Amino acid sequence: MEPYSHHILICTGGYCSPERGGRSLYALLASLLEREGLLFGPNRVKRGETPCLGVCEGGPIVVVYPEGVWYAGVTPQLLERIVVEHLKGGHVVEEAVFHRVTPV
Ligand code: FES
Repeated sequence: MEPYSHHILICTGGYCSPERGGRSLYALLASLLEREGLLFGPNRVKRGETPCLGVCEGGPIVVVYPEGVWYAGVTPQLLERIVVEHLKGGHVVEEAVFHRVTPV
């Protein structure tokens, strides 16, 4: 299997985002990754959706690995910044981070 540069998970559940904003974000993500050339090749990104990340407020919640960065309140505009600045540019969008997984 070809490696991935990042894994991005979007919560599409209805507790953190009562309007289920994660669903439209997940659909938007594919087009953003394609636009930025991140669907194929050495910098490709694996995307996924999950029904819950255990936060259940302040969503939609988006998680990016391998950095272990958790974003809250993700809007379409913020998702675009995450794709361009973090996934493509390698710079975490610090002002939207609410949690980090500490490496073991
Ligand atoms: S429903 Fe989104 S974190 Fe639980």
